[in-house]
Amino acid sequence: MDYILALDQGTTSSRAILFDRQGQVFASAQHEYPQHFPQPGWVEHDPLDIWHSQLACAREVLQQSETDAGQVAAIGIANQRETTVVWDRRTGQPLCHAIVWQDRRTAAICDALRAAGKAELIQRKTGLELDAYFSATKLQWLLTHVPGARIRAERGELAFGTVDSWLAWKLTGRHVTDVGNAARTMLFNINSLRWDEELLALFGVPASMLPEVVASSGQVGVTKEEWFGRAIPLAGIAGDQQAATFGQACHRRGMVKNTYGTGCFMLMHAGAAPPVSHNRLLSTVGWTIEGRTDYLLEGSVFMGGATVQWLRDGLGIIKQSAEVEALALSVPDSGGVMLVPAFAGLGAPHWDAYARGTIVGMTRGTTGAHIARAAVESIAYQSAELLGAMQKDAACAVHEVRADGGAARNDMLMQFQADLLGVPVIRPRVTETTALGAAYLAGLAVGFWASSEEIAAQWQLERRFEPQMPAARREQLMARWAKAVVHAKSWAEP
Ligand code: G3P
Repeated sequence: MDYILALDQGTTSSRAILFDRQGQVFASAQHEYPQHFPQPGWVEHDPLDIWHSQLACAREVLQQSETDAGQVAAIGIANQRETTVVWDRRTGQPLCHAIVWQDRRTAAICDALRAAGKAELIQRKTGLELDAYFSATKLQWLLTHVPGARIRAERGELAFGTVDSWLAWKLTGRHVTDVGNAARTMLFNINSLRWDEELLALFGVPASMLPEVVASSGQVGVTKEEWFGRAIPLAGIAGDQQAATFGQACHRRGMVKNTYGTGCFMLMHAGAAPPVSHNRLLSTVGWTIEGRTDYLLEGSVFMGGATVQWLRDGLGIIKQSAEVEALALSVPDSGGVMLVPAFAGLGAPHWDAYARGTIVGMTRGTTGAHIARAAVESIAYQSAELLGAMQKDAACAVHEVRADGGAARNDMLMQFQADLLGVPVIRPRVTETTALGAAYLAGLAVGFWASSEEIAAQWQLERRFEPQMPAARREQLMARWAKAVVHAKSWAEP
């Protein structure tokens, strides 16, 4: 057996990567799939697009690299989290489009629950902020608004899952999810590691819809022969941010990674017990391996690299995302302009579903280059807010932040990030850490890798960005950012 196949099912594309025993990419394939925006603030995916694009790139990576399925020791799944899929158990047909994690349609349901005093209960049991981001209100919405859905669910005809469940079910026929993904549904108790009856009642979800919760590393089944010509064990499942944390070898308490993808997700390893956040971060499950569960502290920012996509698709000042670095560097600074990319509300630490994108500080001298620079810098400002909250919560000094994701290739962003954080930002040689984490979880389960220590030893530094900005300047900039955020907050009508 030569490889592990990682399936990285992300918000805008599906990817498949073959990793060798050294944790190096042997071959990869990627397929984008359609996004649906039926109303302002709504984001949907067709679950069949997710499945077909994922299967297509898995087959493609094997074919193009002339790898026989028999050379693949196991498959690991890393997935966009929280996105809510419901399907018919008998026919396998999705009930409707999946509601994506970015979708804000259930903000009013969250407001009503908050007014009813439920936020504290939810946070204590799930570690999550009461927000439309998570699956529970999305599932409640589907059961209420899709004709016949509730009755069919109560009859046991419908299955619910996040994207990992959907893919595992299609691949193997088993209805499962891993503990880390379960922890993002807002229906799962992170203290007892079980579905929570009180929460199921609160959101009106029949228990018969739920997947079985399994370890993140462990064989859950084998793929049906029709997919790859022979059965391959499915042995690893993790939400993409948990997978990236594992792939960055943040295996010890206090280690931090930040992924610069569609959003930005900063996660700190928090040890073997759920951390308690007093600064509006999420307390969440990382992974379960050989009966041991590790927990994480998470800061989630909804617009990271997607802010650069907006410069390209919304504003039209660049043709390709890669052009942003040169445009931003064509001016010495943002000229006092600040852009708060609250296009989908604000996540941690603000949790304001009604915040909206805002640009402040423009003058007659402001150009597209200043706005591009402000857009790139906004990614770093938001991440700096997360680390600030994390350091307060964890009461431990952070010595470095491991960076990955598409926008982590932008050197200007990485340098500005290190300057704002006041700690070094380090970038690994393999930046496919999300897929790598899923591969590691699967590979550990089937003995492809022997231990977490062996995995951690494979992590290699590509570049280290040292903070160069004086502390006084950093504080001045963060204070100005805080002022800009005030303008973005609570802008849209509930
Ligand atoms: O929580 C949402 C996150 O899992 C999405 O990640 O990489 O698909 O933007 P990504």
